[in-house]
Amino acid sequence: MPRSSFVPHPQRRPAVVAGASSGIGAATAEALAAAGHPVVLGARRVEKCEEVAAAIRAAGGEAHVHRLDLAEAASVEEFARAAQEAVGPVDIMVMSAGHAAPGTALGTSPKKFAHTVEVNLLGAHRLVAALAPAMAHRHHGDLVFVSSDILRTPRPLMAAYMASKWGLEGFVRALQLELEGTGVRATIVQPGQTLTDMGTDWGPDTTAAVLGEWVRYGAARHSHFLRPPAVAAAVMAAVTTPPGSHFPMIEVQPEAPVAPVAPVAPVAPGTAAPETAAPDTDPPDTDPPDTDPPDITSPGGTP
Ligand SMILES: NC(=O)c1ccc[n+]([C@@H]2O[C@H](COP(=O)([O-])OP(=O)(O)OC[C@H]3O[C@@H](n4cnc5c(N)ncnc54)[C@H](OP(=O)(O)O)[C@@H]3O)[C@@H](O)[C@H]2O)c1
Repeated sequence: MPRSSFVPHPQRRPAVVAGASSGIGAATAEALAAAGHPVVLGARRVEKCEEVAAAIRAAGGEAHVHRLDLAEAASVEEFARAAQEAVGPVDIMVMSAGHAAPGTALGTSPKKFAHTVEVNLLGAHRLVAALAPAMAHRHHGDLVFVSSDILRTPRPLMAAYMASKWGLEGFVRALQLELEGTGVRATIVQPGQTLTDMGTDWGPDTTAAVLGEWVRYGAARHSHFLRPPAVAAAVMAAVTTPPGSHFPMIEVQPEAPVAPVAPVAPVAPGTAAPETAAPDTDPPDTDPPDTDPPDITSPGGTP
């Protein structure tokens, strides 16, 4: 039965992050810990999770690590059990893990296609099955799923990835309906291009070919990539918004680099001409400059 009032967020909200060994998941684990929440980091590369956890602990946060392979049902169940043993009833679950291998719809082998779906879609369902019923029972909790802007802009050579993310969002949309009135919120975060490890194992030729196709199809509009903390900030926005409000979907895109010559703005009659306008006193942009190689053709953080 739905409760008649909203349960306030506890100060300490035990959290799990799937895919915390690198990229967006690692940044999210750091952000959650910095906000005072104990975090359990899960991924296959336990040693990478341990590095992230060590940095969290050095900054005064609480972090635990447990191996997680989303493609194995038993591994997910064991991860959920170990997480709750380490931090107590889980109140925040972030599914950031993702598998992306380039391939066409006709050229991807059934085995490779199945693996992508296994991790990105079935893995998410396994996590939900293991953790969400207890949240609903307690009338509190946040489930956040890192999807992709590939839902908005289809990209060639990503057939299995695209199918898995569409499946993931379909699942979360169904979940959102079912969770209405339980006090548990489910949020989809759709990042655009983000500079992470994703795509770094494709090989330079494949990566260049994939990115070239994306440019050709208009899926890559400019050269700036998000950094993982920017996507983590969207996850934090979802989980910190007060009870009684809900972000079902957040799209996060990299802002286009500021052009050397600003586009000319139309001047309405009777207003000051641009030359006489007050100088811009806004603080300088704190986003790090794009020092990496020309992003659009470099590997890393591609889907
Ligand atoms: N980078 C982008 O441009 C971009 C754009 C849109 C959406 N996304 C999405 O953002 C999410 C995070 O990706 P990222 O960009 O941060 O890339 P990343 O640095 O490569 O992180 C991917 C994470 O997924 C984990 N993972 C992969 N297979 C797994 C499995 N079988 N079991 C458990 N964990 C597994 C990896 O850990 P292990 O390898 O250690 O298991 C790693 O922690 C993904 O869902 C991705 O689809 C990324």
